Amino acid sequence: MTKVPKGNITPERSKIEPILTEFEHGRISAPMALKKLHQAYQKPDRVAQDHGTTDAPYGLMSREQVLAPLYRLVGLSTIKRMTEEMFAHAVVQRRRREFGLQADKTVTHMVFTGRPGTGKTLVARTLGSIFAELGILSKGAMVEVERADLVGEYVGQTAQKTKACLDRAAGGVLFIDEAYALARGGARDFGREAVDTLVKGMEDKRDDLIVILAGYESEMQDFLDLNPGLRSRFPITVSFPDYSERELLAIAKEMVNERDYIMTPQAINVFLTILRHERLEPSFGNGRTVRNIIESAIRRQALRLSDQLEATRSDLMELCERDFSGGDVHDRLPHARPNECW
Ligand SMILES: Nc1ncnc2c1ncn2[C@@H]1O[C@H](COP(=O)(O)OP(=O)(O)OP(=O)(O)O)[C@@H](O)[C@H]1O
Ligand SMILES: [Mg+2]
Repeated sequence: MTKVPKGNITPERSKIEPILTEFEHGRISAPMALKKLHQAYQKPDRVAQDHGTTDAPYGLMSREQVLAPLYRLVGLSTIKRMTEEMFAHAVVQRRRREFGLQADKTVTHMVFTGRPGTGKTLVARTLGSIFAELGILSKGAMVEVERADLVGEYVGQTAQKTKACLDRAAGGVLFIDEAYALARGGARDFGREAVDTLVKGMEDKRDDLIVILAGYESEMQDFLDLNPGLRSRFPITVSFPDYSERELLAIAKEMVNERDYIMTPQAINVFLTILRHERLEPSFGNGRTVRNIIESAIRRQALRLSDQLEATRSDLMELCERDFSGGDVHDRLPHARPNECW
């Protein structure tokens, strides 16, 4: 009987032969072949752990696996396509490096424009972890800041505050919400200094930091026009359109589902009525409004069931018409009236 070395497993021939064939046909380099063979000899749990490090990013993972957190989000086709391109670029650059060819480690700063609740923050956070998986960033965590975090009140404070944010974000994503507020105070405001410090910090940390500026479309365009140096440093602008009714419903179902609840068909109808009304309001917050409606319904369901000791598992899961029709948002509807559901 073959003695298996401690801590290792014997890989099946079916795992080794394709690696050797790929190497023989010049499709993978010697270091890549060795790495794959090494992984084939490791325990499966060890291989899984390796995926989280920059040393072996996406080595055995498909595009679908790496981008799964993004694919799970509703809509957002432009950003999904763009990330697929970045994935392809990272894979090819890595292969080129293995063959000794020139390869760049492109860190792409971006501008996200769109109205509230269109997913800008959520996507920035998701991209951070994907870029870490791809080895583009070493950590992938996101630091979210706004004007007050970057701009100080007296001379010298702004550069310090902005540098501190850049340091905290190093290895991940620095997400600057309502970035146009940096231009708010005019030419003598410290916002200018924050932008200059930011640009310098981006250059210094360019291999391991992605800066994302976010805000409303027109304000962001004005801001970039006022700061010509910024435009070339933020080559990609992604606009986040308002979600369609269908997408908002899909977001709602997703939120309900991940919290272990379900909506009855009648509840869905009431939800849609509320949504149609809310969409006409200037304060409409897309995904955020959906979250508020759902969380309000969950609170109302809790109130409805709190003294029902005989409530079953399915009762505890079900959000019914009444949970929506009596919520804070529904109270603002012109024809708000409570409905019974039991
Ligand atoms: N595509 C999506 N799929 C699932 N949930 C979403 C999606 N887009 C937004 N959401 C939900 O909406 C909420 C608000 O999204 P997010 O905070 O990313 O919006 P935002 O564009 O950053 O808004 P703001 O400009 O007001 O900061 C998120 O917490 C998330 O629950
Ligand atoms: Mg946000």
